[in-house]
Amino acid sequence: MIIGICSDHAGLDYKTRLISYLLSKGHQVVNFGTDAPESCDYADYAHPLARAVEAGEVDCGIALCGTGNGMAITLNHHPGIRAGLAWNSAVGDLVKRHNNANVLVLPARFVSYQMAVGTVRAWLQAPFAGGRHQRRIDKITQL
Ligand code: RB5
Repeated sequence: MIIGICSDHAGLDYKTRLISYLLSKGHQVVNFGTDAPESCDYADYAHPLARAVEAGEVDCGIALCGTGNGMAITLNHHPGIRAGLAWNSAVGDLVKRHNNANVLVLPARFVSYQMAVGTVRAWLQAPFAGGRHQRRIDKITQL
């Protein structure tokens, strides 16, 4: 798969390690930054990742910030994005299986790296269950 990834400063360390993990599993990775440890604003990285997912330039995305909420809130402003916050492998599995999240968001300051990589693995491996979950997803955009 071609996977886009981004973080702010709070997620930079895990992002760097996840890029190595994803490459080792044979994925292509497009890095949307940040690549500097200085304090920065999550939206500056979330919007480019969201546009790339919406445009089909990457198959899906992973975003990290301190709590995950800044990234998730920003990403979900994009109509083509379903960004799901997950913090362990069970939630990572369900956020694909039930919500068909096309961006996985991780709270880097509140999970160990092992928890983060387990969450990514579960999300990537899980299928979308469809059925009643597709009906529920369809209602998200029926404002
Ligand atoms: C950065 O200090 C922090 O606010 C950010 O990473 C994130 O948690 C925001 O939602």
